[in-house]
Amino acid sequence: MPLGLLSFEKKGQLHVEAWASDIQLTNLAVKFGGKYVYTTLLAGLGPDDRLQRYSLGLGLGVHLPLSERFWLDGDVAGSTVLRVRDPFASSANLLTQGRLMLGFNLFERLAFFAGPPTTPSSPGGTRTGSPSPPCRCGGSSWGCPPRRCNTGPACSSAYGFESSLGEPHMDMELRHRRALITGSTAGIGFAIARGLAAEGATVILNGRTSDSVERAIKRLGQEVPGAKVEGAVGDASKTGDAQAVFSRFPEVDILVNNLGIFELKPFAEITDDDWSRYFETNVMSGVRFSRHYAAGMRKQNWGRILFVSSEAALRVPRDMIPYATTKTAQLTLARGLAVDLAGTGVTVNSILPGPTRTEYVNERLQGAAKHLGRPVAEIEAARMSTFAPTSLIRRFSTPEEVANLAVFLCSPKSSSTTGAVVRVEGGVIDTVV
Ligand SMILES: NC(=O)c1ccc[n+]([C@@H]2O[C@H](COP(=O)([O-])OP(=O)(O)OC[C@H]3O[C@@H](n4cnc5c(N)ncnc54)[C@H](OP(=O)(O)O)[C@@H]3O)[C@@H](O)[C@H]2O)c1
Repeated sequence: MPLGLLSFEKKGQLHVEAWASDIQLTNLAVKFGGKYVYTTLLAGLGPDDRLQRYSLGLGLGVHLPLSERFWLDGDVAGSTVLRVRDPFASSANLLTQGRLMLGFNLFERLAFFAGPPTTPSSPGGTRTGSPSPPCRCGGSSWGCPPRRCNTGPACSSAYGFESSLGEPHMDMELRHRRALITGSTAGIGFAIARGLAAEGATVILNGRTSDSVERAIKRLGQEVPGAKVEGAVGDASKTGDAQAVFSRFPEVDILVNNLGIFELKPFAEITDDDWSRYFETNVMSGVRFSRHYAAGMRKQNWGRILFVSSEAALRVPRDMIPYATTKTAQLTLARGLAVDLAGTGVTVNSILPGPTRTEYVNERLQGAAKHLGRPVAEIEAARMSTFAPTSLIRRFSTPEEVANLAVFLCSPKSSSTTGAVVRVEGGVIDTVV
């Protein structure tokens, strides 16, 4: 299936379109008679770079190698006279380089669209794919997940809602950042990893077994073509395993303390061991990972630490007291850490998801529906009215909706938000602030 369209045109005279199914940044240089006489940049853009504009180089060039990788070429076509470029650059280098170009020549513009070139217009943007309304999953700066997000029939296209050509795309400036997300082979953690990867960050997925981590790496690669993904196998709640992760990945720019466990149990039946397990997993993993990675972030004067807490931190469910207790502890921990890092470029925040339709939750809903012989939607509505009657969206959030906020808080764009607790719970918490 075509993934994208490269379209570039010269004022009214030349229009070229090229489809590609798996676009990579490619720089073509045609060598002729010992000289590069025809050079063209075919900017293949990953999903993270949609709608960025680039100037193109095309023309007769004289070629002067500066080093093995960089060369200087003079261009006789158009207005560009001098450019430095790296013909075999990685995507990231080339993007930076694109901005360094001194001008452009033959082509007035190059734009990249995601999805087929249909352009039924709607306010503020162009719907790509089938012309249906914006997806209920909330979309995101990179669109809906590549597969249907299960929030309803509206989600029928691969990419959801896109800005129209020429509109600025909010660049999260994450291309050169490396992020570690604990407990991220599934659920909210995976969605956050996918969101960060779609914005160009290198992501490190964490889970307890190499099988689950390998599977998640593969899945992410399929869902975000070109994603930069690594794996950190280990039980993030255990000191030894955490230490092994630190040895393998001594520094990261972004840490998402996502790992968290919960179960329903009456208070009287919860043992000391249960309480310890909650603290080790939900609190101490965040303490250890933050202590280790905050040091490097402080040194480089930039970093993002995000705790995935829960609305249960503020609205304690009767059968989940240890969970809620640890989730409230995370808020204090995050705030304290933000204070400790005051005056640096490192921010520390917490988010409060509400009921979220992860794969696990989805399975549970489907299981209950099957067991009771009722439609899944009915079971979902019943669960919502029992467990989250104050929900303003009256449905589970999607992991992508939670990830949208997380990606923002992990990006340089959120530089003035620190020590904060930010909700993404569909309005479940029934207070003004
Ligand atoms: N789902 C919700 O409705 C909801 C609502 C509010 C807040 N939250 C919070 O959001 C966070 C994520 O929840 P979720 O529902 O997305 O979780 P989930 O679906 O249960 O995901 C579990 C993930 O954590 C990994 N994991 C479990 N124990 C681990 C350990 N000891 N070390 C490393 N990885 C481990 C699993 O990987 P392996 O199996 O590969 O080890 C899997 O990737 C939690 O902090 C939770 O409290 C969730």
